[in-house]
Amino acid sequence: MSKNKIRHILSSTVTFLTTYRRLGRLSTQESRGLSILFTRNMATTTINSPRDPNTLSNYNNWRTLHTSTTLDILFDQQKLKGTVAHDLQAITDGESDEIILDSSHVLIHSIMAEGKAAKWETAKRLEPYGSALKIKLDRKPKLNEKIGIQIELETTESCTALQWLTPAQTSNKKHPYMFSQCQAIHARSIFPCQDTPDVKATFDFNLKSPLPVIASGLGAKENPTSPSADGSHQLYQFHQRVPIPAYLYAIASGDISTASIGPRSTVATGPDELKDCTWELEESTEKFLKAGESLVYPYAWGEYNVLVLPPSFPYGGMENPVYTFATPTIISGDRENVDVIAHELSHSWSGNLVSNASWEHFWLNEGWTTYLERRIQSIVHGSDQWRDFSAIIGWQALTDSIKNFGEEHEFTKLVIDLKGKDPDDAFSSIPYEKGFNFLYYIEKLIGQQEFDKFIPHYFETWRGKSLDSYDFKTTLLDFFKPDGKVSAKLAEIDWDTWFYKPGFPPKPDFDTTLVDVAYRLAEKWEGFTRNPDGPSDFKPSKLDIEGWTANQVVVFLEKVMASKTTLPMRHANHMGDVYKLKDTRNVEVSARYYQIAMASRDQSIKEFVVKMLGQVGRMKFVRPLYRGLMKLDYERAVETFEKNKDFYHPICRGMVAKDLMGSKKE
Ligand code: BES
Ligand code: ZN
Repeated sequence: MSKNKIRHILSSTVTFLTTYRRLGRLSTQESRGLSILFTRNMATTTINSPRDPNTLSNYNNWRTLHTSTTLDILFDQQKLKGTVAHDLQAITDGESDEIILDSSHVLIHSIMAEGKAAKWETAKRLEPYGSALKIKLDRKPKLNEKIGIQIELETTESCTALQWLTPAQTSNKKHPYMFSQCQAIHARSIFPCQDTPDVKATFDFNLKSPLPVIASGLGAKENPTSPSADGSHQLYQFHQRVPIPAYLYAIASGDISTASIGPRSTVATGPDELKDCTWELEESTEKFLKAGESLVYPYAWGEYNVLVLPPSFPYGGMENPVYTFATPTIISGDRENVDVIAHELSHSWSGNLVSNASWEHFWLNEGWTTYLERRIQSIVHGSDQWRDFSAIIGWQALTDSIKNFGEEHEFTKLVIDLKGKDPDDAFSSIPYEKGFNFLYYIEKLIGQQEFDKFIPHYFETWRGKSLDSYDFKTTLLDFFKPDGKVSAKLAEIDWDTWFYKPGFPPKPDFDTTLVDVAYRLAEKWEGFTRNPDGPSDFKPSKLDIEGWTANQVVVFLEKVMASKTTLPMRHANHMGDVYKLKDTRNVEVSARYYQIAMASRDQSIKEFVVKMLGQVGRMKFVRPLYRGLMKLDYERAVETFEKNKDFYHPICRGMVAKDLMGSKKE
């Protein structure tokens, strides 16, 4: 049978299996069984269909074992230039003489394979995946044979992973800054690689820069600690000894200083911000680490450090190994946003050691991480009320995301179809919260004591590997097989509904102790909505929220927002004034308040919103604020975007541009 014919049969079979699974004719288990059978029969030849639809690489023929990046950070040209070397291993026997790598907007100068100049070509761009790089070998290596390749390259202006800041765009305005954000599929815009979470490699970083450098590996003792006096480039070296997927490759360079925040932890940030950042993080970091270790097993990465980035960092946090990258919005002066650190730290087990095999199973990364993050909160605070508090906030985020997509949307499922799609477009709170709720449901079903035995087992079984949702199911059921009682309970799980039903999961009975006061206050405000001008016993005062945590205020604001009718403008404005919500340093609070004010069509809030959109580049705030502003004043939204687009990270810029275009069409 010709290769093409096999490929055709395989691809149509994969479609057939997926369609059937979606139609509910086959259970996940049955269809998985079938696909395994199928690949077993066929795979003695070339292709077994890869699990990850978002890579163009032929990673079912080759596996990257080690990657060494030697790059010069050229601030004046805003690019990286150098060599990337991959050691790859053949995982098929004498079948492939071509290595295909993901590559997007990278300028390639030359390629060597096995020490000799190699033939190579880049395929036509396929959005959103880039242009596959095809490297021709002059033979077909045998199973397990290793091949070394070296690529001379430079990044381009279109690179989606890197943001370059001019000195004027940084806080002390003295030096330029650059940082990367590779999740989900942006590593390929720094260097050609197998850009799939289903492949893990060890990494070396040899980076030259005039300014301090940070990377997702352990730093060499000899690394310089301050900018070079004369602007010359100094060498910084890092090594990541634990195999990681390409999306965890991370670098940053700028005027960065460091301080200790715990026995195995350092915070790095701009010299002027160092004191505030240290205060915010030093109390909790080691406590979180210990709590995480007590739930799973010892921390595997040596150090746990945090880099607090400039405000255009597009996420709350990114779990880059050794160095979590974090938004400066967590430095709120009240230690109320350190849950982001508990979250990123939890990824040290879920995501970084045990990874989703593709972005279709992203809940395995984020749902597990949200679960661990909330267990850590409970341990640190000494009560389970705290995780329910956080879970209630999460349920609201889930509700917003489901409403945004629509209840029947593919991306509201736990396991999603990303064929031909951009994982960034699917990003929302759904994998986090539906994933959390799934694990919470299983925990309640079998009891926390039993579930706690499974946690280390799961993380040990998949340590250093990648898995999909069916592997998760098998691991859970197999672990409890010897225990008839637990197994009987697990038999109740309706796996296909959890995996494939769009919309809401069943809502658990959360402990509302910590949110009750906030709900009661929200009800009082709702009185104004029902009867805006009538007499009222309720006279809002700053005492209403005295002694509250910022997160209780968040719950209050969300409850008001979730109300079916909007608060009249006069009252919304008054709320902002009495509770001092318009200008608080805690963006979680002010950004939510702005939504209430915008919904009430309070034009005076626009100035605050526009100001925030020029100061914060975290997508969690930026995208909803633009959505609100678009409804209130579309022209102003476009004008604000035009003004700030260079401030935003390319990923954020792209997403907001899409949002603005989308709403115009409506
Ligand atoms: N890994 C994510 C961030 C991410 C996801 C980047 C997908 C790119 C693509 C990170 O761990 C995360 O979840 N961050 C949250 C923090 C929050 C849930 C505490 C964020 O950015 O808001
Ligand atoms: Zn996360």
